[in-house]
Amino acid sequence: MASNDATGDASTVKYYTRAEVTKHNQTNDVWIIIHNKVYDVTNFLNQHPGGEEVLLEQAGRDATEPFEDIGHSSDAREMMEPYKIGELVEEERTKDDEKKDRDWANGTSDGDSSSGSWRSWLIPVVLGVLVTLVYRYFISAH
Ligand code: HEM
Repeated sequence: MASNDATGDASTVKYYTRAEVTKHNQTNDVWIIIHNKVYDVTNFLNQHPGGEEVLLEQAGRDATEPFEDIGHSSDAREMMEPYKIGELVEEERTKDDEKKDRDWANGTSDGDSSSGSWRSWLIPVVLGVLVTLVYRYFISAH
């Protein structure tokens, strides 16, 4: 505990290469990359609501895609914070992930995403109104 390693202290971020993370792929030593951040989930395995099996499958790998595919809740995203041990070195990060990362980290929706949701309900509403009008027309015509 009182050693000079770099766990915890937020002011000194530790950087890892993907090759380094790959080595931690044993049941008793599981590191995972999600959104360019490195997590040591060894002590989380038996607490994961999705089961330890899926985490073990991703051991030592970049699990960003499967993690996002499942659509983890914001609770899940908060839950992983304590397991973060560092980040990927600059050269090995994926661009597109950084963007996604910021989107959910911000919490507040910016202009872009709110116009997205605006469009997503407008179309069904317009269709609904049209169907109602056509239906009424037929009812009154006969
Ligand atoms: C430290 C990283 C992770 C944390 C803290 C975490 C946390 C959670 C939590 C809290 C849930 C319950 C549902 C929710 O709140 O979204 C969950 C479900 C699940 N997770 Fe994770 N998870 C992590 C990584 C992963 C990874 C890397 C995978 C897959 C490769 C995964 C696969 C799943 C699956 C399959 C479920 C079950 C979904 C369901 O039953 O509908 N998780 N996880």
